[in-house]
Amino acid sequence: MIAIASDHAGFPLKEEIKKYLEEKNIEFIDCGAHSTDSVDYAKFAQVACLKVTEGYADKAILCCGTGIGISMAANKVKGIRAACCSDYFSAKFTRLHNDANVLCMGARVIGGGAACELVDVFLSTEFEGGRHQRRVDQIMAIENGEIL
Ligand code: RB5
Repeated sequence: MIAIASDHAGFPLKEEIKKYLEEKNIEFIDCGAHSTDSVDYAKFAQVACLKVTEGYADKAILCCGTGIGISMAANKVKGIRAACCSDYFSAKFTRLHNDANVLCMGARVIGGGAACELVDVFLSTEFEGGRHQRRVDQIMAIENGEIL
């Protein structure tokens, strides 16, 4: 299960990604926004990310204008590792090396075709573990207030 959300600027890209997920028979929960009417992205990030951290979704996909604001908000949710990506390599390696559980993209940055390719590689790539697990553990230790 994938949680998907956007603000107004990301809404058209979210709708394209939803079509792609439907074609691929990948189940998703649409956490809004539901139109291009102006809204604030933080709450949409939070709703989708809580679906992940509470176990209702495996990963989340978030869209805003740049992908940046919504990724910043996502990364404030405990347990979330959100990556803002606009290229295939980054979307692949943030799974391999960072075990990212949220992919963020900017509707004013990339088109629907490219975004769906990023979604595809993000959802199909497994975390490599090994030395990268230690680094991810350190990221999560910072989140828990530990001094490294
Ligand atoms: C909305 O205009 C825009 O600021 C927002 O979608 C996003 O790009 C923020 O990072």
